[in-house]
Amino acid sequence: MKEGTIYRSFTARNGRKVTLRAPKWGDLDDMLQFINSLVEEKAMIMMNEKQTRDSEIGWLSTLLGSVEKDKMVAVVAEVDGRFAGSCEITPKRGYLSHLGSLGISLVADYRDAGIGQEMMLEAERQVKRLGVEVVDLEVFEENARAIHTYEKVGYKITGRIPDGVKYGGDYMDALIMTKRIA
Ligand SMILES: CC(C)(COP(=O)(O)OP(=O)(O)OC[C@H]1O[C@@H](n2cnc3c(N)ncnc32)[C@H](O)[C@@H]1OP(=O)(O)O)[C@@H](O)C(=O)NCCC(=O)NCCS
Repeated sequence: MKEGTIYRSFTARNGRKVTLRAPKWGDLDDMLQFINSLVEEKAMIMMNEKQTRDSEIGWLSTLLGSVEKDKMVAVVAEVDGRFAGSCEITPKRGYLSHLGSLGISLVADYRDAGIGQEMMLEAERQVKRLGVEVVDLEVFEENARAIHTYEKVGYKITGRIPDGVKYGGDYMDALIMTKRIA
């Protein structure tokens, strides 16, 4: 998929116009600010260290290369022309190549408006082209909003890693959620 390709637009629950598209180089500074804001708020995501501009350049160039070569899909949400978040699904390999792993986060101001749900559905639509039939994801047991979002999109809890997360010194389980999309 070519960088910046527009997938579709819709109006969110709060009346804001949302465009879903592929990522592009111009997202670099927004993405850097985004990941560092997630780290700062201690969002229940895997990463807990701030990134530098150099590390983000490396990360984005790998992402754009993989998306361009159809090795993964990425859906960026833009709201009123501003970067609002991203969702990726990365297919696995070999006997697991019908499986893809999903990750998603939104900028704090844009949450709870139904945008995450639409991004996931769009990423699922896109990744079917790459032969993915089952999508999995991992979520912290205490991330109630994310679990609710995944359930409303059709994911079910199918696994649990006891003490799979160490969050600020405290253990909690990591939940595995899956959905058959094809
Ligand atoms: C999780 C996340 C990706 C969901 O995206 P989103 O755009 O907020 O999702 P939606 O608006 O489609 O759905 C959010 C739902 O959670 C509900 N919700 C909000 N807070 C909640 C809570 N504490 N407990 C349960 N549900 C909650 C909302 O009401 C909404 O449900 P509804 O549509 O039935 O009313 C986003 O909130 C986010 O980026 N969170 C921080 C980072 C993160 O946790 N990423 C996921 C890591 S696994």
